[in-house]
Amino acid sequence: MSSPTLKVGIVGLGRLGQRHAINLAQRVPNAEVVAACSPVPAELDWAASTLGITTGYADYDALLAHPGLDAVFLVTPTSLHADQIIAALRAGKHVFCEKPLSLDLADCLKVEAEAERHPQLTIMIGFVRRFDASYHDAQQKIAQGVIGKPYLVRSQTCDQNDPSGAFMRFAPTSGGIFLDCSVHDIDLARWLLGNPVPKRVYASGTNAIHTGLQAFGDVDNGLATVEFSDGSMASFMASRTMAHGHETLTEVFGTGGRLAVGSNPRLNRVEISDAHGVRNECTPDFYARFADAFLIEAQEFTDAALGRRTLSLTLHDATEATRIGLAMTQAMREARPVEF
Ligand code: NAI
Repeated sequence: MSSPTLKVGIVGLGRLGQRHAINLAQRVPNAEVVAACSPVPAELDWAASTLGITTGYADYDALLAHPGLDAVFLVTPTSLHADQIIAALRAGKHVFCEKPLSLDLADCLKVEAEAERHPQLTIMIGFVRRFDASYHDAQQKIAQGVIGKPYLVRSQTCDQNDPSGAFMRFAPTSGGIFLDCSVHDIDLARWLLGNPVPKRVYASGTNAIHTGLQAFGDVDNGLATVEFSDGSMASFMASRTMAHGHETLTEVFGTGGRLAVGSNPRLNRVEISDAHGVRNECTPDFYARFADAFLIEAQEFTDAALGRRTLSLTLHDATEATRIGLAMTQAMREARPVEF
């Protein structure tokens, strides 16, 4: 591509879309946000008044027809991802799409098949933790053999309890706690263990606070174990009920040692010593923990779409994360092990 900047359309300006829009518009040097798309007029007004993105489309197909558009950044509800990716590829656009790729394995494979027809286009699913400096360092150390042969990942995504239960509005469409939250840990486990093939899954869960989730076959705390065919294993916990804040913790056990990322989910390096003891404040939410990684992720996508580098993750990684997340959900709902 000869263009020095990537002309991006941001699609979805909700909780996360606005943050991606700010990064792309203000902090990714080679990206230019030329248009926004949302069915909500107030969100398009926000893009115009906050970021000067004055071209807004309520209709996604109209955005795809925007003159000179190179790429779309999809931050829309998960149920729309597969169709929106396919439409963008057919329109000749590079695609960034938030995780998970889809809640349906057949749809993941349809997207993979469509992507194969457009090898010149970059397509990236946002597994943001791969772009976090600490996870990156851990992966490099494992690859260098620092902990010997890795055989077990224990990883958790635990959100601070929101007493308002606002997240309940996502419950009908999120796919459940494993596909919504653990999908990050699943991707990390595959990456850190060297992409093993899943063999069997066990899972269970409980509703400690948000009992309304039961109506959607969902839980506010879930546990799962995945066995891989090379003998390695991964164990996952996801929670929406933490009292102290957002805590993402991953441990990797190897034959020669153990690495841990996030054992203390500290907000910063300040330590408070007082009558209650010695403590630090905690990251309140996922964005506080991964803000830097979201920016690095957007930079990698932009550089790849401009032909300046290759992506560090594949579309198939996203399909595998959905495949394992679906099996975990099934194992929990049916209270039995699920074989692949
Ligand atoms: P949200 O509900 O806050 O935002 C969704 C946005 O999509 C809204 O702006 C809505 O107006 C827009 N939208 C709905 N239908 C549309 C359509 N047909 N065309 C264009 N725009 C449409 O949801 P949120 O929390 O921002 O999540 C969006 C995606 O990001 C989800 O797939 C979610 O899984 C993912 N996500 C990823 C996180 C991560 O850690 N990487 C964290 C939070 C969300």
